[in-house]
Amino acid sequence: MKRDDHLRQTATEFGQQHLFQYWESLSDDQRSALLDDIEHIDFATLSKLLSEKVGETPPIDESKIDAPPVYPHRPSDDQLELYASAIKTGEMMLASGKVGAMVVAGGQGTRLGFDAPKGTFPISPIKSKTLFQLFAENILNLNNTFGCKIPWYVMTSSATDAPTRAFFEEYNNFGLDPGDVYFFEQGVMPAVDDHGKIILASPHAVALSPNGHGGSLLAMRDRGVLEDAKRRGVEIFSYFQVDNPLVSPADPLFIGLHANSESQMSSIAVPKADDLEKVGNFVSIDGRVQVIEYSDLPDSLAHAKNADGSRKLNAGSVAIHLINRSYVESLTGGGELSLPWHRARKKVEYYDAIASTTVQPDSPNATKFEMFIFDAIPLATKSIVLEQRREDCFSPVKNAEGVDSPATARRDMIRRAASWLESCGVDVLRNSKKEPQATIEISPLRAINVKQLSTSLQTKPKIKTNEELYLE
Ligand code: UTP
Repeated sequence: MKRDDHLRQTATEFGQQHLFQYWESLSDDQRSALLDDIEHIDFATLSKLLSEKVGETPPIDESKIDAPPVYPHRPSDDQLELYASAIKTGEMMLASGKVGAMVVAGGQGTRLGFDAPKGTFPISPIKSKTLFQLFAENILNLNNTFGCKIPWYVMTSSATDAPTRAFFEEYNNFGLDPGDVYFFEQGVMPAVDDHGKIILASPHAVALSPNGHGGSLLAMRDRGVLEDAKRRGVEIFSYFQVDNPLVSPADPLFIGLHANSESQMSSIAVPKADDLEKVGNFVSIDGRVQVIEYSDLPDSLAHAKNADGSRKLNAGSVAIHLINRSYVESLTGGGELSLPWHRARKKVEYYDAIASTTVQPDSPNATKFEMFIFDAIPLATKSIVLEQRREDCFSPVKNAEGVDSPATARRDMIRRAASWLESCGVDVLRNSKKEPQATIEISPLRAINVKQLSTSLQTKPKIKTNEELYLE
């Protein structure tokens, strides 16, 4: 059977034959583009999602929800030895090549409103280094420090794949060996209208969007990441998001605690800024760690307090995880991955046949389906959470302005650099709001922590007000 006949038959079987409604008017190239899109659709999964109302979040039984156990940022006296031995384990695992870095960079970045992939956004306060460059320099530093070659798995999507590859090529992989950078594209899902019909963005294009960061697990299997990692002897993926310039792509303490406790998937948490902060919340349900999205957390739980007045659910997710290769293999081994799907109402452009044009709607008109990586946590037999200080590890670039924007990320990079310098005994002038009075940037090639910075400082720099200080 010809490709178009076969796909038309499948679409018809699932009640989506309208995808071919403009077929007769399409050129050969347009036909082939349309078929490519349709070929990417998993009709069976979509049909299940539509018929079973899967994706609607089940109600939460509040009585079952507890705070999860969390390894504190500062170990207690009786944890000192545990942490010291974890750091050793983590360093050994890095040195022996058992850790790979993985960034998810397939998102559409609609809130930021930047045309190119978000990883190519210039973010550092003085040199305007891009997010990708900062991560690459962190990895180069780790390679030098531990005498290893950490492979970097970069997940893209159909929208970000080509420009991301081109960007890495243009910048010579920022000094990384090209053989150690592995791009892989995630899957897509179509957006549907209120009648469950797949939306056409034009007569020859389906409204497809990436299937969420949870789609990374299947893509790792389907796009050869698991095989590549196995060949290299990588046992743990250090997972992070492309929008966080403060992230450490691989942290020895975190790796060591994860490995020594035989966790399958672990997470970093930061103390929540306020009860209703828009981050995922770590909870424990029947002894299993899991994440409840802020939008699904009942207010009563968000405001719940412990006997001493502290917040009951205080561990906020920053989307930094360690995931064992063997765990991804087992989750994805049986064909289908059993992560739940989440549905979201979104504005999705559609083709208006009467006006013969593509329309950008003013209000949400469609449902999109996504999988979330943190839904893999409760499926693990063992999962740990380590708390870090927010100022050390998390300042995402989500919005064009306001909270979680380029401005706040730059501010937080400067704050962290200033506090590292102060820890090394350097005077940093601060204004009445305690903000550093100078713009400071520390290259990750020079230091990715206070210890490295301190060893690298021959003399203590004098920082003048309003000066720009770049430590190369
Ligand atoms: P967000 O949920 O913040 O989405 O992604 P986004 O696409 O970057 O931004 P908006 O919501 O459109 O404004 C968090 C992280 O997950 C990645 C993103 O690239 C980012 O690193 N992601 C998200 C994927 O890799 N694939 C997806 O399908 C969704």
